[in-house]
Amino acid sequence: MNYDSLKGSVSSKPVRQAFSSGGVSRQAFLSGGVSRQAFLSGGVSRQAFLSGGVSRRRILKTGAAFAGAALAAPYVRRAEAARLKVGVLLPNSGVLAFLGTKITQGMELAINQSGGLLGGREVEWIRLDSETDPAKAPERTARLVRRGCDIVVGPVHSGVLLGMLRVLGGTNTTLLIPNAGAGAATGEHCGENIFRTSFSNWQAAWPMGRFLAQRGLRRVTTMSWNYAAGTESVQGFTEGFASLGGEISEGILAPYPAADFHSYMTKLAASDAEAIYAFFSGASAVQFVKQYHEAGLRDRLPLYGVFLTEGTLEAQGVAAEGLETTMHYADDLPFEANRAFRSAYREAYGVDPDVFSVQGYDTGALLVHAAQAVGGDTDDKPAFHAALRSFRGVSSPRGAWHFSRAQNPVQDFYLRRAAGGQNRYIETIAQDVTDPAQGCTLV
Ligand code: PHB
Repeated sequence: MNYDSLKGSVSSKPVRQAFSSGGVSRQAFLSGGVSRQAFLSGGVSRQAFLSGGVSRRRILKTGAAFAGAALAAPYVRRAEAARLKVGVLLPNSGVLAFLGTKITQGMELAINQSGGLLGGREVEWIRLDSETDPAKAPERTARLVRRGCDIVVGPVHSGVLLGMLRVLGGTNTTLLIPNAGAGAATGEHCGENIFRTSFSNWQAAWPMGRFLAQRGLRRVTTMSWNYAAGTESVQGFTEGFASLGGEISEGILAPYPAADFHSYMTKLAASDAEAIYAFFSGASAVQFVKQYHEAGLRDRLPLYGVFLTEGTLEAQGVAAEGLETTMHYADDLPFEANRAFRSAYREAYGVDPDVFSVQGYDTGALLVHAAQAVGGDTDDKPAFHAALRSFRGVSSPRGAWHFSRAQNPVQDFYLRRAAGGQNRYIETIAQDVTDPAQGCTLV
């Protein structure tokens, strides 16, 4: 394993422990339940979906041979059959629903800005609601494969991701992960077909641990959800914090999707820690931040965290004002690409983007880049996956990033402060942070 790419304010080498305790174990998730084969064997096969025995590849070659000429009717039909099917598994309901909306908007914006085609092919989107339900994820994923999608985009939630990996791990179906941070996807269950454009849970939390220790804090209480994203986030924070002498006072886990945190506020009020590290997101983050403020804890026990204020500032109002968080994005990052992205996004959707929109946008840009590089021939998987790997996010609103060998972003992390409805950039606290990718055979 190579940690040498950790740079900037980062000096010591992190070690991610085996899958942390609490919640459903990653292994249990991946091994239990119905087999991948059982899911894939039902219904119409992918091959049968391709038009009349003519492979998509041949259709593309035929199409290319006739490029520039008026297409006769049979070829029009073939070109239609060559539409690229992209499956999307994101939540339409629940506490993380708006994350799915933001990801979708960002992805569509990037593709629309490039003319709406991928490698010259029209896109057919096949969208399914994940319902943020890990138990439903294998069947939904298999359904997308059976319907002929050879690229799948999703999900938001780490538990859903673990369910998707049971179906897609070791196959040729390309998976682009625009949010869920479960370490396994780019760790022990990494693969040539699996790419993440967002973060690993460990990676998103580790810089904050180091930052708080560098600020001189010595005792912090952690609080998050009791499933993979929460436990891995706390693990990453703890490793960063402990590497510079910090100690965890207490670790509190709340069941997903907790929305009422009142009972936890009494517990936090009794804490002997100097500060709280918390990871919550979506509607739960709104409630947590509001109730923390209402409990009058902010002055006595400063609140730090990740994702806490993403896409939620309007709903949190005064409760979020001044909160410091660390993320791989800040609203006012001083890049021209960020300014252009924000104004195009506002014009297209009438709302401000957030980190989830950026992850969607980069997923769209990645698809545009790779499909273009292979001339639309996404069936040649080694070539298509090599093209995906070669993506350089030089025009990303978050700043330049690239894929690690485990196919997770190598990226910078920023300290931000919430002020006037924006997560404002304060400073860059870690550069080129790379997930340790423990157990990944690609590394
Ligand atoms: C996750 O489940 O991996 C997850 C969910 C919401 C976030 C970040 C990570 O904001």
